[in-house]
Amino acid sequence: MTDHILTTLDGGILTITLARPGKKNAITQAMYSALAEATERARTDDTVRVLQFRGEGDSFSAGNDIADFIALGSQGAQAADMPVFRFLKALADLDKPAVAAVRGRAVGIGLTLLLHCDMVVVAEDALLSAPFINLALAPEAASSLLLPALIGHQRAFEMFALGEAIDGRTALAWGLANRAVPADQVEATAQDLAAKLALRAPNSIRKTKQLMRDAEHLWALMQREGEAFGSQMRSPEAMEAFMAFSQKRAPDFSKAG
Ligand code: COA
Repeated sequence: MTDHILTTLDGGILTITLARPGKKNAITQAMYSALAEATERARTDDTVRVLQFRGEGDSFSAGNDIADFIALGSQGAQAADMPVFRFLKALADLDKPAVAAVRGRAVGIGLTLLLHCDMVVVAEDALLSAPFINLALAPEAASSLLLPALIGHQRAFEMFALGEAIDGRTALAWGLANRAVPADQVEATAQDLAAKLALRAPNSIRKTKQLMRDAEHLWALMQREGEAFGSQMRSPEAMEAFMAFSQKRAPDFSKAG
């Protein structure tokens, strides 16, 4: 149980709110379990026509909670046993439309989850980044396929390898978003799109989404990525990166090998 994931169902739109604003909506293990449950519900509950993701406070999400990475890495946890995998499977299987409203930071899975949304509204000044290599990790959520497919290999590689953020206008220009609007219009714009989608013929929209994505392939890739991610998470170079984040210093990979 967690208070950091809130769900509401209104007019056929199931809205999932990441609600841990004091930590920029960084996602804990308990939050992944709640996200998985809500995303599974979106697929199986006939009253849900559209799933919407949003974040409370000034950020969409700062990604995986780094304190959890430290705990899981030192316990030697296997990626496949982690609740994030249940959430990823639910995202791969989701065949109803998903909309995201993104203000502020979208980091790590805060960005890669957008690759599973069908309509993404970003603030013009939002900052999106995928700093897996800064943390000595590897891409997840099928982003090793979906990000280069959307924006091209070189841009995706640079986002993974240098970890620098792109702003919302760039995300729109690169095809990562449908709309880039002033921050105070993000929620209303996403809500309008979700409301339109909720009125569309439900079976037609589902079949369209099923035809546009290969859920089995995405899940197989997520599992393969999970092996690389898991072994990196348990590695000394990742532990150095996690400790550097907690100690608010730059990581030192000069002795890694
Ligand atoms: N895990 C755990 N805590 C996090 C976090 C994360 N991923 N991201 C932010 N927080 C916490 C900070 O430690 C800080 O906590 P504190 O107030 O107790 O010190 C609080 O959230 C606010 O973050 P802060 O860094 O002060 O905000 P900022 O506006 O200066 O920077 C970010 C925002 C998102 C750029 C920065 O927090 C960051 O880089 N976070 C890590 C992102 C990341 O690498 N995620 C994993 C990707 S795989």
